[in-house]
Parts: sequence; C-alpha cells; structure tokens
Amino acid sequence: VRSFTMEGITGSSQIMTGGSLANLHELCEWRGTVIISDENVLKLHGAKLPPAPIVSIRAGEASKDLNTVFKIYKQLVELEVGRDWLIIGAGGGVVTDIAGFVASTFLRGIEFGFLPTTLIAQVDAAIGGKNGVNLDGYKNLVGTFNQPSFVICDPTLLSTLPQDELMWGLAEALKAGAIGDALLFEIIEDKSPALLSCDVQAMNEVIERAVAVKVDVVVKDEREAGLRRILNFGHTFGHALEKVDKVPHGAAISVGMVVAAKLSQKRGMLSKEDVTRLESALSNLGLPTKTDTDAGAAMDAIRKDKKRAGKNIAFVLLEEIGKPKVEMISFEELSEVMRDMR
Ligand SMILES: NC(=O)c1ccc[n+]([C@@H]2O[C@H](COP(=O)([O-])OP(=O)(O)OC[C@H]3O[C@@H](n4cnc5c(N)ncnc54)[C@H](O)[C@@H]3O)[C@@H](O)[C@H]2O)c1
Repeated sequence: VRSFTMEGITGSSQIMTGGSLANLHELCEWRGTVIISDENVLKLHGAKLPPAPIVSIRAGEASKDLNTVFKIYKQLVELEVGRDWLIIGAGGGVVTDIAGFVASTFLRGIEFGFLPTTLIAQVDAAIGGKNGVNLDGYKNLVGTFNQPSFVICDPTLLSTLPQDELMWGLAEALKAGAIGDALLFEIIEDKSPALLSCDVQAMNEVIERAVAVKVDVVVKDEREAGLRRILNFGHTFGHALEKVDKVPHGAAISVGMVVAAKLSQKRGMLSKEDVTRLESALSNLGLPTKTDTDAGAAMDAIRKDKKRAGKNIAFVLLEEIGKPKVEMISFEELSEVMRDMR
C-alpha cells in the first residue's frame, strides 16, 4: 500500500493506492457508518464491504440528480445518522460524486471517504474534492468543493469491470501522463495488454502515477482558478463529440486528445512523432482516434459548453508529452485538423 496525504484548503485527504478493502474495515470499525453504493457494485462486491447499513442507488448517470440526493437524505434521517458518523461512497464516479455531495450537505457536512470501484473513479472522480450532481441536463451544475478524508484505491475491484469501462479509465490515465508524467505515458504504451487484462501490478503502477498527477494539479489550484483546467486535456472537443454524436465519454475524450495533439502540432509545438505516439497508444488500448463529425456542429457545441460566444476557444495543447499549455484556437484551425482526421 502506498499512502499519501493531500493537504487542500477544503480539507485533507489520505489517498491509498494499492490499498485493499481490509483498510476500509479498520477505518470504520468504531463508529457509526453508512455506505452509499449502487446496485451493480453491491451485487459484485457487496459481501466484502464492512457490516454497515447500506443506501443503494440505481446504477448510471441518470441517477446523478437531486432526486436521488433527496431520497438518500431521507434514508439518512431514518437511520438517525449523526454529525459524528462516517459516510462511505463505494462505487464508480456517479456514486462518489453523489456521496460526496450528500455528505458535504447533510447536517451541514459530515465526514466521508471513498472506495472507488471503477478505474475512472480511482484515477479521477474520487480524487480532488469536486462533488456534485447534474441538473436539467447540465453536468455537475450543483455541487461542492470538499475533500474526502480518505480514498482507498483497490485495483482488485477492477477485475469485474466491463472492458469498455476499463478502456475509458485507461484513456483518463493516459491523459494524466500526457499532461503531467511522461513516464506514466510510456508505461501505458508498454503495458497496454497487461492493463487491458487488468494485471494488478501494472494497474497499480498506473493508478499510483495518475493519482499523483491529479493531486499535484489539484493542490496547486483546488478551486479551479486556472491551472486545474489542464485536466481538461482532450475534454473540450470530447464534450462536444459526446453531445453531437452521442459517443460515450471515454471514447470522446480519446478522439479529443488526438484533436488537441494535432492542433498542437499545427502550432509548431508538438512533434509529429509525439502525435503518432498518442494515436498508437490510444488505438492499442482499443480507443478511437478518428471522427467524421461536422466541424461547425462541433464548434457550436464547444461554444455552448463553455457558455461562450467569442470566436476563439481555449484549448489545452501539448508542447511535448507531459507538458501542457493552454492556447486560443480558431474555428479555421479546428476545421482544418478535423479534415485531416476523417
Ligand atoms: N468529481 C470529479 O472530479 C469527476 C471526475 C471525473 C468524472 N466524474 C464523474 O464520474 C462519473 C463517471 O464515472 P464512472 O465511469 O465510474 O461511472 P459510473 O459510476 O456510472 O460507473 C460505470 C458503471 O460501472 C459499474 N461498476 C462500478 N464498479 C464496478 C465494478 N467494480 N465492476 C463492474 N461494474 C462496476 C457501475 O454500476 C456503472 O454501471 C460521471 O458522472 C462524471 O461526471 C467526476
């Protein structure tokens, strides 16, 4: 187990990578505890969780709303959950986002920790203290900045993940490498077969490094005044593709990273070799690198997403693998790159 403490202004978080469920049992042995999880996770891993009352939600993004939050509050009241209790969010990013929000607001905030069970949650959603739910189709419109007291990343929980979920998590881990850790990028390049078969040792190494990249960025800019935006590498275009073509998030950010890399190359920043490396790394993980979506529709969706009417859009680009830079991109540049990608 490797444990590091993230000291944030909204709390400090003990993050354990290579941790195991056994660590969780210790953390809640002597206190009132309630577990929030979803139906899939409970079916697959419920028997291993500590013996505490469980609040189960429906699996999936559609649950991530105030309606679910309301139902959870009611159950917490019924369970007579007090200020000194602990709430554990055990599940994917949907569960950790909701559980963090519920715990941050119930009784004006009680302590909470996470047992992330998807790769996306272990390398991304459970780390960094952003909690919240969607409202009227807008993602994460209502939420809080508040750090979980602990996050336990147990790679053995990932063995039950569908292959797609694993791939999408690996796309996020590769993103972490691209913006902050060239060695992580290389490890994923070298070990993609082992990672796709969920080899615990390889997975652990990747999770540990990806978490370190995120922690490093979050500590410097917890409330997203600037730097934290580099975590959006691939996401500006990715979100648009999700909207326009209804592509799953992980696949969309894969294409989005290639778009950002090609824009970087056009600006004379990233070398052609590095663009090719990114494309190969993604395809070796089974992820898409091309799109034939309409550039105009994509640009409109980006503008809407950013709630901006201006002509140019801020994009996270790369100077080299591991070194991001934010620059303004015009519609002409974007459409040119998209023409090349068909
Ligand atoms: N707070 C943040 O900083 C942050 C960052 C990234 C993503 N997110 C949020 O995370 C969410 C996406 O996370 P996700 O991809 O984990 O989605 P998810 O929670 O919906 O999980 C995906 C699916 O996998 C199932 N599942 C969970 N663990 C499993 C396991 N071990 N084995 C088999 N199936 C399992 C779930 O029941 C669900 O059906 C989005 O809502 C996104 O907004 C938040």
